[in-house]
Amino acid sequence: MQRLKVAQALKSTSVGIEVDVRGWIRTKRESKQGFAFLELNDGSSMGNLQVIVDGSVPGFADINKQLTTGSSVRVTGELKESPAAGQRVEVHAKTLELYGTADAEKFPLQKKRHSFEFLREIAHLRPRTNTFGAIFRVRNALSRAIHNFFQSRGFLYVHSPIITTSDAEGAGAMFHVTTLDMVKRKLVDGQVDYTEDFFGKKASLTVSGQLEGEIFATSLGDCYTFGPTFRAENSNTTRHLAEFWMIEPEMPFYDLQDNMNLAESFIREILTEVLAACPEDMAFFNERIDNTVMATLRNIIDNDFLRLSYTEAVEILMTCGEKFDYPVEWGTDLQSEHERYLTEKKFGKPIILYDYPRQIKSFYMRVNEDGKTVRAMDVLVPRVGEIIGGSQREERLDVLLERMQECGLNPEDYWWYVDLRRYGSVPHSGFGLGLERVMLLLTGMANIRDVIPFPRTPKNADF
Ligand code: 4AD
Ligand code: MG
Repeated sequence: MQRLKVAQALKSTSVGIEVDVRGWIRTKRESKQGFAFLELNDGSSMGNLQVIVDGSVPGFADINKQLTTGSSVRVTGELKESPAAGQRVEVHAKTLELYGTADAEKFPLQKKRHSFEFLREIAHLRPRTNTFGAIFRVRNALSRAIHNFFQSRGFLYVHSPIITTSDAEGAGAMFHVTTLDMVKRKLVDGQVDYTEDFFGKKASLTVSGQLEGEIFATSLGDCYTFGPTFRAENSNTTRHLAEFWMIEPEMPFYDLQDNMNLAESFIREILTEVLAACPEDMAFFNERIDNTVMATLRNIIDNDFLRLSYTEAVEILMTCGEKFDYPVEWGTDLQSEHERYLTEKKFGKPIILYDYPRQIKSFYMRVNEDGKTVRAMDVLVPRVGEIIGGSQREERLDVLLERMQECGLNPEDYWWYVDLRRYGSVPHSGFGLGLERVMLLLTGMANIRDVIPFPRTPKNADF
């Protein structure tokens, strides 16, 4: 007897063998002759395994009524070639064991289409649907592809901390971590006295592992982080989460060009690997979620990314005659409508924008010779907009200190980061990829809340 996952059984060529399969019933049909056809799914594949149960199976008559959608069973029996269309094999049950029932009146996932909004309210059950099964299998394949990309190039995986006392982006949209009593906490000159707090100073959830990544890059070489990051921006959009996963490679001796080249190969390779790993799930997204998904992905994989300076992009946007909600002029941050105009309408391919105005970017980006721009880069893709933000880092001590001051930061708070420029400073670069943004691209899903297991957004942290 072979214990098989549904995915393995569906692919098996060993008809005639005895198998043991376990899972949840998606649907049941009954024939007049007293047979039951169970569609069994255990999450290992999009497809269900058909199980045929007849009166000869011990106890079947007693439990037949309880074999409802959502109930869980163990079946042993013979794997046979299936006469039915659309499936190669089926299982003829010899034994059937009911693990857990699911009340047909109450089980929320009956066989009909549910809205994604409704499924978000039952995030504990949505992984049992076809769409969410496919999403989370693809998310797994994507994570593996990302590790493969870096591991095959000798990058070191660094576990950057989740609790931190420094603000990596210098933008202040952080969640505080405290054990102080909100009511009884002591105020000194109207300020909270954090010396009494668990860490003895103000601590937060990290917005990025970059600064710690730079420590490792400037000692152990090419490295990357891959972990959750947290932003308390109150932006209730379809592209923002309060908790999201970021991958941040950091490379010593890389300039901005090297950085852009790596980012481009990275995107192309991980997409290619996921397409190869999940053909069935990807076909499902293209058929049922968004029929432009495959074409968009092929276009990204097959074409070079366009490189365009911020200044060139602004010129295009100002003269293109398109009506935007937010006006563009040199020095303003680009909005998603601008990014989408460039990638979708104007060029129809991914774009790497680089050399942004210094006043709209973080303190750690290397200042260009013009004094007005910094060596920042954003990778923009059709349908999603920004998926990567990165830069060459400012390795010159004096310029870094000047930039910190300009950004209203106290270098003492970043003393260890500044030290890296004191002792053996080198040119270096890195970038951050938002995992859920790539998931939007891969699945065609419209809302970022639907590509992470348990989304955290303003007013929502259930499950
Ligand atoms: O552009 P960002 O803010 O860059 C950084 O955090 C740098 N420290 C990265 C680095 O150079 N090491 O964020 C990087 C990416 C964005 O391009 C986007 O894909 C994603 O992270 N991202 C978000 N994804 C979901 N929800 C949010 N609120 C996000 N904010 C950023
Ligand atoms: Mg960014």
